[in-house]
Amino acid sequence: MKWSISYHEDHSSFRNLKREKELQMDNDKLRSVAKAIVANDKGILAADESSPTIKKRFDSIKVESTEQNRRRYREILFTTEGIERHIGGVILFDETLRQSTMDGIPFARLLSDKGIVPGIKVDKGAKALALYPGEKITEGLDSLRDRLIEYRELGAQFAKWRAVIEIDEHNVPSPFGIRANAHALARYAALCQEEDLVPIVEPEVLMDSSHGIERCEDITSRVLETVFSELDAHRVLFEGMLLKPNMVIAGKQCVRQNSVQEVAESTIRCMNRYVPAAVPGIVFLSGGQSAEDATVHLNAMNTMGPHPWQVSFSYGRALQAPVLAAWKGLESNVDVAQQVLLKRCRLNGLARNGKYSRDMEPGS
Ligand code: 13P
Repeated sequence: MKWSISYHEDHSSFRNLKREKELQMDNDKLRSVAKAIVANDKGILAADESSPTIKKRFDSIKVESTEQNRRRYREILFTTEGIERHIGGVILFDETLRQSTMDGIPFARLLSDKGIVPGIKVDKGAKALALYPGEKITEGLDSLRDRLIEYRELGAQFAKWRAVIEIDEHNVPSPFGIRANAHALARYAALCQEEDLVPIVEPEVLMDSSHGIERCEDITSRVLETVFSELDAHRVLFEGMLLKPNMVIAGKQCVRQNSVQEVAESTIRCMNRYVPAAVPGIVFLSGGQSAEDATVHLNAMNTMGPHPWQVSFSYGRALQAPVLAAWKGLESNVDVAQQVLLKRCRLNGLARNGKYSRDMEPGS
């Protein structure tokens, strides 16, 4: 937690001085966890699919979404040898944080023992924003403080909250929709820091519609500007958080798709304008890009460095889609699936330093 008691408020109280020292230590811990997650060649594996989302992923490979299959799949991911060289943090879902390996080692401990920081998705999903047709607001603030305390006891050291911003051809998102989501993100982030968890702040501008890259840049700019203004008003310590934004990219239905360089330049311009240098890392989401595109774009942004923040990844689909396709729910495919995961982690670890090239892709 960040704010310190000013001497003007109570300069005579020894107790306040002691508390100030404690708060400083809390801040140091937040800072060092945030930095560790994005150290050197590292990024984040987002494995926090909610039950409906993991069902969709399993449906695509015709695997039933049972508790047992979900546990086994996550075990395959987390026990992959060598991922710790490129993965600094893993985001878990509530169910997964309570699960263990076949040998009874809780996943959070397994990850910590490998030097990977365990994290937890704490939002309860995006729901319709009342009286604002076409817009969403993320829920989950009620009782969040209690849940954070429990998650910390279960081994989580960071958390994630995703706000969803849709774009249409007209007035969506509205300034109010952006503000409401930014406010919720900031309330979540402040609660996390109060409970000594590093907040990952994820305002995702979706790439599902037909907008061009200019509109994505405009909306992403408004969103980031509002998010950081709310975070500041809520006294969130920028040094003790990570930002997880979308890249600036045309919608999937847009007829004009941009070059890698255009995406990288628009994204970095937007981040330079709106993300304070005090934030230790920007960990991009993949948002529906192919695994290869997400890596290529990350690499291009890093070749434009140095940047004030680490420019890294927090990919869900871009790390896992090829793994699911290799696994298909079969034990006989586990080795191959783990090799595929390790390869994707390694390639993103290189891209995160601008050292990737397409000819490193399997089959090229
Ligand atoms: P994608 O990389 O699949 O967008 O997922 C990242 C994530 O955590 C979304 O909340």
